[in-house]
Amino acid sequence: STEILQCDPSSISFTSCIPEIKSVTTLEAIQRGAKQINECQTVAFPTETVYGLGALALDAVAASRIFSTKGRPPDNPLIVHVSSDAMLNTLLPEGYTISRTYEILIRHFWPGPLTLLFPTNPTLVPSIITANQPTVAVRMPSHPVARALIALADAPIAAPSANSSGRPSPTRAEHVFKDLDGKLGVILDGGPCGVGLESTVIDGLHADGNIRVLRPGGVTVEDLESVLQRELGDSGDVPKVLVHRRDFRDEAIEQAPTTPGMKYRHYSPAVPVILLRTSSPPSDVTPTPIKTFLESLHNRVQGSEGHLKIGLLAPSDSPLPTNFTSSSDFEWQTFPLGPIADPSISAQRLFDGLLTLDAAGVDLILIEEIKEEREGLAVMNRVNKAAGEAIWLGPS
Ligand code: TXA
Ligand code: MG
Repeated sequence: STEILQCDPSSISFTSCIPEIKSVTTLEAIQRGAKQINECQTVAFPTETVYGLGALALDAVAASRIFSTKGRPPDNPLIVHVSSDAMLNTLLPEGYTISRTYEILIRHFWPGPLTLLFPTNPTLVPSIITANQPTVAVRMPSHPVARALIALADAPIAAPSANSSGRPSPTRAEHVFKDLDGKLGVILDGGPCGVGLESTVIDGLHADGNIRVLRPGGVTVEDLESVLQRELGDSGDVPKVLVHRRDFRDEAIEQAPTTPGMKYRHYSPAVPVILLRTSSPPSDVTPTPIKTFLESLHNRVQGSEGHLKIGLLAPSDSPLPTNFTSSSDFEWQTFPLGPIADPSISAQRLFDGLLTLDAAGVDLILIEEIKEEREGLAVMNRVNKAAGEAIWLGPS
């Protein structure tokens, strides 16, 4: 069965792209991981975003093991993780020059939770990685264990999140173990992930020079915009950052020959998830009074009778009335998402909350909406995919 190997991220430092690992057990754990990788096996490892399920990116057999371990649809391409700029260059077509915009983004956000699309080198990168597309997605993770694993394996590592396809992404080693025990040899345990949601995936390869956000994530749109403004403002030619929001759609993102990964059901625990909207509804929607909503909950869980156990993911300073969870018809279990003013905490806690409530055996999970600002945009992107329905709540 699967072994969990403890790693201490604080014992690893990088003066160049070569890791220095002070703890002997951490060094041995990462060396074992790297050995498994080089033997074409899969290894789960921590990144700053979520745990990844890694395998050699430039070996089609190794990469195919990722798909079989996760039950991942073959038309969903993988992100390739590198530990140095030199390793990035080996993936690109010969003679390819990185754009000024990409250079700026790489300088500011790598290593870190930003994934960039590049034209692929099809003679080198197997088509199973790119799902036959002309582009390859690449990122350099900042988690010391992830970066050290890639450096010791001395090869680019392809890695989706280390969960069965469709489930919430794991942010702790025990989430991976619970889901994939027996399906891989080694899990490197580097503690809980700091960002908690996957990387931001961007496509800056369009002729208009603009940046398209294919998946909002750990690097916020606000941060991308402010860096580009700061660096290119004087030139008068600042690329726009295009991202889907309630009031904006972009055709190139929409058609996304590019992000087939977005079309699948995602992030769903085994139990039903309902999104509670507390903001003001669109004009054609009549909000449901809280009392009516609570009365309807029994009907929403198939085959349920008697006492329902309900999980609630909500900000600690939620605008819901304080008596919301007082109904003694139900047993409540609350998982706090942090203060409304700091969406980065909601991001860090969302998947952990979904997986924790699911494991606690609740019949149903309610998630309260947060503002689509900063990390809140990525949080709501995942919540919308996880939730089977959304309800606008009105006053009681
Ligand atoms: O934070 C992350 O990105 C994590 C950690 C492990 O690094 N990885 C991750 O991988 O989230 P995965 O496979 O769960 O998500 C990869 C996303 C999918 O939405 C996929 O469709 C998109 O990146 N993607 C990969 N290659 C692409 C390509 N060539 N063109 C467009 N989208 C691509
Ligand atoms: Mg995933």
